[in-house]
Amino acid sequence: MLQGFNPANQDIKVYIDGKLLPRGEAKVSVFDSSVQGGEAVWEGLRVYDGRVFSLDAHLDRLFDSAHAMWFQGIPERDTVVDAIKQTLEANDMRDDVHIRLTLTRGEKITSGMDPRLNQKGCTLIVLAEHKPPVYPESITLATSSVRRNSPMSVDSKIHHNNLINNIMAKIEANQSGADAGLMLDKDGFVSEANGVNVFCIRRGKVRTPWADYCLPGITRATVLQLCRDNGIPCEEARISPSEFYVADEVFTTGTMGELTRVRAIDGREIVNKHGESVLEKVQNLFRELTRVGGTRLV
Ligand SMILES: Cc1ncc(COP(=O)(O)O)c(C=O)c1O
Repeated sequence: MLQGFNPANQDIKVYIDGKLLPRGEAKVSVFDSSVQGGEAVWEGLRVYDGRVFSLDAHLDRLFDSAHAMWFQGIPERDTVVDAIKQTLEANDMRDDVHIRLTLTRGEKITSGMDPRLNQKGCTLIVLAEHKPPVYPESITLATSSVRRNSPMSVDSKIHHNNLINNIMAKIEANQSGADAGLMLDKDGFVSEANGVNVFCIRRGKVRTPWADYCLPGITRATVLQLCRDNGIPCEEARISPSEFYVADEVFTTGTMGELTRVRAIDGREIVNKHGESVLEKVQNLFRELTRVGGTRLV
């Protein structure tokens, strides 16, 4: 699955530190920490009919990630919300919009690793694009040899820009003709796919890996809550790849692609022996929520 260029995004304006710049002029300094050490935290947000879905949860995670990385000069929450609103208004965007919200450690006074060289505060970037959910009806996964980070290295709970291991997993998936890489933890249990969380359903029970080695995704949390609120059995657990192979249904969750069915993993077709589709039920509940939920900004 390869995203294409959408001509509707040719003339978009991008917000960088208070300025709305045409796409071609939207740039950060070579002294910016995102260029120097890949130091940034980010969120992907989706806009449904002028409402930003789970805005507060995304902003909480952005600020938590920035705090965990000892960012200084972090913009106020109101400033970030206003930046998103300005960007949507400037681009006349209301629906089928994906926002990549990035906060970098900011510009350094000279190149170097020490965060004390950052004396200008953070750089805030709001990149909004016309982008309906990107995944097709169903996708395939291939297990990657690259492990997802544990808190022993870089904690996966920080939503940082150092996504190199996930990108390596995606390269492996591309090479094997799969849509995404399935990443494991250090003991070989499933953590997540390279850019989305994963769930399996067996005999009516919805299961997802503990968020020990994966990003605690906001869509993941929404799905778990929807299950609890609607009497669908669900649990977080340690789940092995073979439990995924023999599941009745498997799906991924993420802001970019919402809930997407997985039809095969490592060449093993996912066969529903249960009969009814629990996934379709959860997908309908999620769709319902996106019709009414979110914070209206435009
Ligand atoms: C590695 C990774 N896993 C999962 C997700 C899905 O998270 P969310 O549901 O909050 O979009 C993302 C999204 O950015 C991600 O980068």
